[in-house]
Amino acid sequence: MTKKIVLILLGPPGSGKGTQAKQLCHHYSLPHLSTGDLLREEINQKTVIGLEAKELIQKGLLVPDAIVMKILWERLSKKDCAQGFLLDGFPRTVHQAESLLKEQKENEQLIVLSLEVPNEEIVKRAVGRLICSTCGAIFHTTYSPSTLNTECDRCEGGKLYQRADDKEEVIRERLRVYDQQTAPLIHFYDEKKVLKKFDGSVSPQVLFGKLCDYIDSIRLSSE
Ligand code: AP5
Ligand code: MG
Repeated sequence: MTKKIVLILLGPPGSGKGTQAKQLCHHYSLPHLSTGDLLREEINQKTVIGLEAKELIQKGLLVPDAIVMKILWERLSKKDCAQGFLLDGFPRTVHQAESLLKEQKENEQLIVLSLEVPNEEIVKRAVGRLICSTCGAIFHTTYSPSTLNTECDRCEGGKLYQRADDKEEVIRERLRVYDQQTAPLIHFYDEKKVLKKFDGSVSPQVLFGKLCDYIDSIRLSSE
């Protein structure tokens, strides 16, 4: 029986998780579960969770495990996750990773893709990032600008905006938090022999090709 695929994109802020997640989910027909996006949705809807998350996110700090897991478990219970899913930005602490392992079913194949990008490149990427308020497409003022300047050229008209946590001082704090709380997950998954490291400083197209080659090779060898 073919195993259900569970992809985890691990990497510092701005390493390209969202950019790759969109393409991978399209290619493998998987739902894209970004805890950052789920939290921003709560913020937009001004829920109690959203109000607590907003303050922490703007400071570059992590949202408490219990809150993130509550919204993610809810999302995972939806029908579209039955055949597999891609996690972008989760887990981010060892406690989150252990909780996810406890939820793992026997027929699931876990593949952790770790994106590595030097810190100075990350800062450049994050300060130049623009996102479409309508379709969520990700742009960069220099690396991948929209041909319509401040509007989205994919959905043709969505207004582009900058995330509140994409200011240089907040990005540096997010990097510090990543090193302290999330980087230990590289060792955690390495020990379980489910992690592969990738050079995330190559172009999005080249990286996408490498990620697909690796995922396909794992899928073939497990059949
Ligand atoms: P989240 O939304 O997950 O943010 P993040 O992890 O900080 O990552 P980013 O979304 O900033 O970057 P990315 O890796 O997706 O890069 P992207 O593809 O956009 O989390 C936000 C906050 O929510 C956290 O700080 C935390 O507070 C909270 N949170 C979320 N999950 C949590 C959890 N599990 N536990 C606790 N708290 C949680 O690319 C960035 C830019 O680079 C773009 O402009 C893009 O065009 C460009 N780019 C991408 N790839 C390339 C490339 N190969 N070459 C050149 N440019 C590129
Ligand atoms: Mg992202």
